[in-house]
Amino acid sequence: MSADIIDGKAFAAGLRGRVGEAAGAFAKAAGRPAGLAVVLVGEDPASAVYVRSKGKATVAAGMASFEHRLPADTDQATLEALVDQLNADPAVDGILVQLPLPRHLDADAVLLRIDPDKDVDGFHPVNAGRLASGLPGFVPCTPLGCLMLLRDRLGDLSGKEAVVIGRSNIVGKPMAALLTADSATVTLAHSRTRDLPSHVGRADIVVAAVGRPNFVRGEWLKPGATVIDVGINRVEGGLVGDVDFASAVEVAGAITPVPGGVGPMTIAVLLRNTLVAAHRRAGVPLDDATL
Ligand code: GUN
Repeated sequence: MSADIIDGKAFAAGLRGRVGEAAGAFAKAAGRPAGLAVVLVGEDPASAVYVRSKGKATVAAGMASFEHRLPADTDQATLEALVDQLNADPAVDGILVQLPLPRHLDADAVLLRIDPDKDVDGFHPVNAGRLASGLPGFVPCTPLGCLMLLRDRLGDLSGKEAVVIGRSNIVGKPMAALLTADSATVTLAHSRTRDLPSHVGRADIVVAAVGRPNFVRGEWLKPGATVIDVGINRVEGGLVGDVDFASAVEVAGAITPVPGGVGPMTIAVLLRNTLVAAHRRAGVPLDDATL
């Protein structure tokens, strides 16, 4: 038997369409478009591609895009001064500083400097704390996109056994918090976890975010499990996920492909978070049930 393929690309296109409609309504109500500022330091080619596609998607959704490109040798004070300026700019609802930053810069200090209410990446410790405490804030885009795909596929997640593999601040930890808030029973596995296959074998939901190509084997899975593959690993012959797709597709009930699964969700959720930020800042109510 072969698993259903979860079409993240199609889901993301739908979300972007809904965000675009809501962004038009926001611009009318507020008398200005929602605005997203993206900061890129240096010339890392992959980051430059991400930043360009974020800018294009922002404009396509009817929002204002502010791109700030700084040279690779920018110092900490200059970068933090730009963040201060964006924090104070009323046309800017969301701020994203593209990671990774050049090694001489202190990324944690930069993220701390961002106004938590403009932190559409959800990386500020205040937003991590809000998520952990069940308070409204901003949730990192990739795990929120994964949650949307899971709810779409499974409906109510209450009581499901979920195993998240990888404990990063950007994906694993917030993913575990989101699943917990949806009343799943969550195991957060990582590089020191003993007998990972036995944990994975109990899971109705597997989220793999370890950054190791083809790491999770189909033989580990419980038949019918829903598998979300966050990995994007460049190997000879193209891109592969953290899940060995060929073996997993024979056992899982549903699985995200790489590419075309989780990847397209990240930018769509970034636009959604920016629109939510704009509504909160402008005091315009938003029915975000559809977003
Ligand atoms: N680098 C790769 N993905 C991301 C992301 O989602 N946000 C930021 N700020 N940097 C990234």
